[in-house]
Amino acid sequence: MKKIIAVDGPAGAGKSTVSKILAAKLGYTYIDTGAMYRAVGWKFLQSGKSFDEKILQEIVSAIDIQLDASAKVLVDGEDVTKKIRTPEVSKLASDVSKFGFVRKKLTDLQRKMAAQGKVIMDGRDIGTQVLPNADLKIFLTASLEERSRRRFEELKAKGAEVELEKIRQEIFLRDKQDSEREIAPLKQAEDAIFLDSTNLSIEEVAEKILELANGK
Ligand code: DC
Repeated sequence: MKKIIAVDGPAGAGKSTVSKILAAKLGYTYIDTGAMYRAVGWKFLQSGKSFDEKILQEIVSAIDIQLDASAKVLVDGEDVTKKIRTPEVSKLASDVSKFGFVRKKLTDLQRKMAAQGKVIMDGRDIGTQVLPNADLKIFLTASLEERSRRRFEELKAKGAEVELEKIRQEIFLRDKQDSEREIAPLKQAEDAIFLDSTNLSIEEVAEKILELANGK
């Protein structure tokens, strides 16, 4: 049987870290859909143009996005894995994600990637739109304070100069924009299992989802 796990939730909830652990434990492929929206945002940034829907349309129709087995992200052959992780690209990813033509292209690609089965995919609309028939749906969240603190620690560990309050504000605004957009907003699917990771470690979250995946 094809096994498909969908993990949705707001920014910084630990979706990708947990999904990577689970993919390794289950022998599944991990698909980071946020990286695909980031890829589109990054490509737009490269154009050097100020925001314009027509230019975005041209970019989206021509863009080639590849996620390889080691979670490398390639845009038109260029390795952008690290370049798409800046706050500027986070904001742009959220901005471009509200357009129907962007979502259509990426959703089609995501469904194709999941068709092989044994996949764990994370994002905002995986359980509601991309893979509504997923075998297991998780809605992973944590308090805004905790998500901001985690992101702050993560960036600090990488040597970045960051302010907690600024990160909190960025996450708050991005979640608001992602939840309020008209097409495929961030939302818990009716049949998703709600998991609050505020007081849990990454390992504890992974363990809980693993138990659910194993049907315990
Ligand atoms: O998961 P992330 O923070 O890398 O995602 C970046 C942005 O991409 C997010 O703010 C909204 C958008 N996104 C989306 O609209 N749908 C998805 N399935 C995944 C991400």
